[in-house]
Amino acid sequence: MSFDVFFKKSLFLCEKFFQMFTIGDIKFNRYPLFLAPMEDVTDVSFRHICKMYGADMLYTEFIASEALVRNIDKTVKKMHLEDSERPTGIQIYGHDPVHMAEAAQMAAELKPDLIDINCGCPVKKIATRGDGAGLLQNPDLMIQIVKAVVAAVPNIPVTVKTRLGWDENSKIIVPLAERLQDAGIKALAIHGRTRMQLYKGEADWTLIGEVKNNPRMHIPIIGNGDVDSPQKAAEMRNRYGVDAIMIGRAAVGCPWIFKTVHEYLETGVLPPKPDLAERVRLAKYQLETSMNWKGDIRGLLEMRRHYSQYFKGLPDFKPYRMRLVTEPDPAVINSILDEIGEVYKDYQFE
Ligand SMILES: Cc1cc2nc3c(=O)[nH]c(=O)nc-3n(C[C@H](O)[C@H](O)[C@H](O)COP(=O)(O)O)c2cc1C
Repeated sequence: MSFDVFFKKSLFLCEKFFQMFTIGDIKFNRYPLFLAPMEDVTDVSFRHICKMYGADMLYTEFIASEALVRNIDKTVKKMHLEDSERPTGIQIYGHDPVHMAEAAQMAAELKPDLIDINCGCPVKKIATRGDGAGLLQNPDLMIQIVKAVVAAVPNIPVTVKTRLGWDENSKIIVPLAERLQDAGIKALAIHGRTRMQLYKGEADWTLIGEVKNNPRMHIPIIGNGDVDSPQKAAEMRNRYGVDAIMIGRAAVGCPWIFKTVHEYLETGVLPPKPDLAERVRLAKYQLETSMNWKGDIRGLLEMRRHYSQYFKGLPDFKPYRMRLVTEPDPAVINSILDEIGEVYKDYQFE
């Protein structure tokens, strides 16, 4: 065998070994960590920051198909993607298969790496009109929507994010996953709660594991719910064998969680947490980019939910937090952040 052939064969085997799975054309070369889609959180600026810290897959905030087909400016803007953040999926929701297909085609024009259908949002005004997790009460309609969207965007992988079921007595995810796969989705993300649980109690990963280990299933299964530390990520990966882990709330104000989890999964060692200077720099950067993308007022307001976590652990921090979340002037916020950097400069995060 010539060196050239040997080299190519070795490269192919290496790629096969390290490539855990693909979703359409998206290749993941290490154990993937996904940033969960979160309304008012996962805008371009936050996605960009999570990407810098090693998130392997990102999603837009959910986008209402009904608003999209009416071309509502604010909704169309939410679909904006930057090449530097890829791979990114656009997430849409709704209950009308025709409008969902139309919305998917509009989203497809922006060339997302995938289109995700939200079948898990528990918010009352959404779920009770049959959108989001409301579809868990009407699985036939959910399948109809999936088929319509898959047919509408033949060149883009379609995925679904959902929950275990509507309530304790209707945890339908195992048979539902098979139907979703048969309808043409390329990956399934499951949050281990029912709609009725909202965000209460503890996420139950048992059924996520059952879906993953169902011999009929061959698409990637992404586990989601309550992963808030490297150890928890390792436990869920090892115990349930999911193809990827999706992290939501634990990334808010703590975007470095992706780096920390990756390092722990790869080495078994917990890396040190970012120091205060890095946190101050990041908070300023996020404020600036958030205002650039969302507009001054919205960007500044949405940034408020991140500060507590950025500086979690600092003693007697409450007065600073209060100032950060009430101050309307970004220049003053920046000077408060500088002051925090100065006052606590010797603090070591554990
Ligand atoms: C503020 C907030 C907004 C959310 N918005 C969305 C959304 O737009 N689309 C979606 O599929 N899930 C949404 N979720 C649910 C998350 O994606 C995720 O499934 C849930 O938070 C559980 O994961 P976690 O325990 O890692 O946070 C949202 C959750 C939160 C806390």
